[in-house]
Amino acid sequence: MGRAIGTAKGPALPFPSPDTRPIGLLDSGVGGLTVWREVAHALPNEDLLYFADQAHCPYGARPLREVREFTHRAAAFLLDRGAKLIVLACNTASAAALDSLRTAWPQTPFVGMEPAIKPAAAKTRTHKVGILATRGTLEGDLFARTRERVPNGVSVIQLTGDGLVEQVETGEIDSPAAEALVRRYVEPLRDAGVDEIVLGCTHYPFLAPLIQRIVGPSVALVDAGPAVARQVERVIIQRSLSNEGSHRGEYHFFTSGEPEALARVMDRLIGVKASVEPVG
Ligand code: DGL
Repeated sequence: MGRAIGTAKGPALPFPSPDTRPIGLLDSGVGGLTVWREVAHALPNEDLLYFADQAHCPYGARPLREVREFTHRAAAFLLDRGAKLIVLACNTASAAALDSLRTAWPQTPFVGMEPAIKPAAAKTRTHKVGILATRGTLEGDLFARTRERVPNGVSVIQLTGDGLVEQVETGEIDSPAAEALVRRYVEPLRDAGVDEIVLGCTHYPFLAPLIQRIVGPSVALVDAGPAVARQVERVIIQRSLSNEGSHRGEYHFFTSGEPEALARVMDRLIGVKASVEPVG
C-alpha cells in the first residue's frame, strides 16, 4: 500500500504509508506481559493492545476445545479494535487455537508461541533438558511436533506447573509461598541433572529470578519471549505493516476480569502504570 506526495518541484512520488493500526496481544492473564514488554522494546513505534482473559484464567487445565473458543473470542475482540497482527502471547492458547485462527482469519498474521525446547536441546551439555508448562501445552499437537525435532540422545523431562499461573496472577513472585511452590517443580529438575529449563508458559518468566536462585547459575532458563518479538518484527516488515516514523507507540490494556486488580499487578510486575478497560 502506498500514498503519493507531490512536491512543488516535480511529480508525485510513491511513498510507503505507515500502517498505524495496532498490534494485538492476548493471554489468559498477566503472563503475556512478558511478551508484551519484549514487543514494546523491539518495536517502539507500534501501538499495542493487550487483552487479558482473566475471567477464564487459568487456561492450562481446561480442555483445549474450550481454550480454543476463548481464544477465538479474544482474537475477534482485538480485530474489532483494528489489530493488524495478533500475537498469541500464551503457549496454551497457541496449542489450542493457532491453526484454527489462521483458518478463520486467513488475511491476518498470527504469531504463536511454542516452548523453546529446540534451542535448549541444541545447547545442553548434560543432554538433559527440563520443560515446565501447562497441561494444555504439553498435551497439544504443537508440542508433540516440537518434541519430535529434539535430537536423539537428549532427554526431555516435562513437568506441569500446577498453581504457578495462579501465583503469578497475584503479583507475588518472590514471597515464601511462591518460593515453596516453585521449589516443588524446579528442585526435581535440578536434581535430575538438567542444565536447561524451558519456561513453556508466558507467566513463568516472571518467576525466573526466583527459579535461578534455586537452581543456581549452572542451569540456563529459556524464555521464548525475545524470539517471538523478533518474529513479530520480521512479519510486519515482510508484510509492510510497520508504523515507521517518529510515532511513539501507545498502549491500551483490557481485561475480562477486574480492571483495577490488573492495573495494580501490572505496575508491580512490569512497572507500567496504565488504566485498564473492562471487556464484556
Ligand atoms: N500464559 C499462558 C501460557 O503461556 C497461560 C496459562 C494458563 O492460563 O494456564 O500457557
